[in-house]
Amino acid sequence: MLHQKVEIFDTTLRDGEQVPGCKLITAQKLLIAEKLDALGVDVIEAGFPISSPGDFKSVYEISKLVQNAAICGLTRANKKDIEVAAEALRPAKRPRIHTGIGTSDFHIKHKFNTTREEILRRAKEAVKHAKNFVDDVEFYAEDAGRTDNAFLAEVCEAVIQSGATVINIPDTTGYCLPEEYGQKIKYLKEHVKDIDKVTLSCHCHNDLGLATANAIAGVTNGARQIECTINGIGERAGNTALEEVVMILRQHPTLNLTTGIRSELLNEMSQLVSREMGMVVQPNKAIVGANAFAHSSGIHQDGVIKSRETYEIINPADVGVTESSIILTARSGRAALAYRAKKIGYDLTKLELDKVYKEFLSYADLKKEVADEDLHQIMEVSLKTQAIA
Ligand code: KIV
Ligand code: ZN
Repeated sequence: MLHQKVEIFDTTLRDGEQVPGCKLITAQKLLIAEKLDALGVDVIEAGFPISSPGDFKSVYEISKLVQNAAICGLTRANKKDIEVAAEALRPAKRPRIHTGIGTSDFHIKHKFNTTREEILRRAKEAVKHAKNFVDDVEFYAEDAGRTDNAFLAEVCEAVIQSGATVINIPDTTGYCLPEEYGQKIKYLKEHVKDIDKVTLSCHCHNDLGLATANAIAGVTNGARQIECTINGIGERAGNTALEEVVMILRQHPTLNLTTGIRSELLNEMSQLVSREMGMVVQPNKAIVGANAFAHSSGIHQDGVIKSRETYEIINPADVGVTESSIILTARSGRAALAYRAKKIGYDLTKLELDKVYKEFLSYADLKKEVADEDLHQIMEVSLKTQAIA
């Protein structure tokens, strides 16, 4: 069966950059945008042009620079925001305006103090206005995760009639369970007139650690775009991590879904974003964390040395990591020690290994991790005493 494409909409430079301390200057944004384009993302959300002159400039410069991905600018549902975004996107080969409004009763009552009818009117107006400037208009129904499905369907139908090309269903507060989010997408697919004329998009936040699971539930129920960020950065607990959804779709071919991402660039991309934003990637982060392909327990090390697949479901080369690493700690066994010793030039006999292993364990008990320099020292000491004995 032919795989269907899921578009990757990267919002590292907009939702990701909203993280306190992650603010970037235009030069840094250009560097990241160029790499995102090379990575193969379909859309780059470059910023929120009306929010500051700096953001306007970044969106404008990225629009000039990027050759392949569509460039998107965020707006609220008002004319001024849309006009400023249109201006910032003017040089883009494929400009997209991303406009929208809160649709949950929480937002309607507490944020806008208005009615559902008025929200519908503003949503339609915003899309129609954006269509005066660009063909590609994405509408976001903010807090769709907590929006009543019947009203959400009404909003979707109205913005489709107004010319939206993509409809974003954000779980803005990261509230939904995967089953619930998937059912929401399915409901829209089944109840909204002309829904097949637009692409449904998942934009999931990670407040309950479910952003990736929810995005996957979205695409398995008919959405065809995922909004995500490198390293999963974003408001509060972050967004869906790009590297996670890409590798989930790749590692599960039975889903029949694919992306255009060059996965071998993922590790480099992750490090670039981490460096430029000054945001450390947690070592146990899936796919791109420092420990994602590191093995430290003796049982696992023995298995991986015999055959990588015993404890690894991803070939590290597929995400740009040179090789799996065998970390030497007091939990390591003889197989790991022999493997690492060989890598630094010692081909140990069984007898030698027994001797070195004893020395290694007493050393490892005092240290968190035994590095190559330590290993050299251990070898020198134990092999020399062995020769004397
Ligand atoms: O989380 C959200 O709802 C958003 C929208 C502005 C798309 O970031
Ligand atoms: Zn968001």
